[in-house]
Amino acid sequence: SGRVRLVVANWKLHHTHLEAIAFLERLWHLLDVEDYRRAEIAICPAFTALRSAQLTIETDGMPYRLGAQDVFWEPSGAYTGEVSVPMLAKLDVKYVIVGHSERRRLFGETDDVVAKKAAAVASGGLVPIVCVGEVAEERAGGTTEAVLERQLDTVLTTYPVEALGELVIAYEPVWAIGSGTPATPEDAEHVARFLRDRLARRASEAVAARVRILYGGSVDVGNAVAFLAQADIDGLLVGGASLDPERFAQLLGGRP
Ligand code: G3H
Repeated sequence: SGRVRLVVANWKLHHTHLEAIAFLERLWHLLDVEDYRRAEIAICPAFTALRSAQLTIETDGMPYRLGAQDVFWEPSGAYTGEVSVPMLAKLDVKYVIVGHSERRRLFGETDDVVAKKAAAVASGGLVPIVCVGEVAEERAGGTTEAVLERQLDTVLTTYPVEALGELVIAYEPVWAIGSGTPATPEDAEHVARFLRDRLARRASEAVAARVRILYGGSVDVGNAVAFLAQADIDGLLVGGASLDPERFAQLLGGRP
């Protein structure tokens, strides 16, 4: 496909800055050059661990990209508790997860909030990983595609056109997150194809061919390869299985 595969570790609310350093040193020891050829690897720690992760990666020349799990859309101002895109850029952060279902569900993020954040990330020269996905009731009710269309279209409406090709979309069916029950690779491929067709229609064929679409939701050592084998799945967004360096290295190495 010409798209560089991307495997993202989303640590969520886990790992202190010291644990992040230990993880990176261990992963660096476990992976070899073949693993790095297989996919671009991005680590998304908590904000408090970004600086130590940045220094560790830089000092040892590790081939890992750094990502954040969220961001605010304004560059600065009276917004107590928030972190901005320029602040992340200064830490060599390349990716920002936007609209994760936990942020939508637990922190009230609407499609409009997600769209503002995605546009701010792209305008600041970083790359958003925009999460979309249906909940179990929507799937049961047959509205999965309508939900995905709404989530994707809202982002596309305000997204800077010149940055569309770099966009990363993560399809995460909410019922599959942390449940131990992933989507089947065939179902995930079907949705990825649907999203790519939607991109072709709402943006262009050229954009649709470039955008990377990831799958996330109970990805683990035993199923990662099957997802990556799908034509329209360009990578993985990994939660639980990314916390332990041995497990994550095994997943990246495609060695079940
Ligand atoms: O961002 C990661 C996803 O929410 C998946 O989490 O791999 O623990 O199911 P999980």
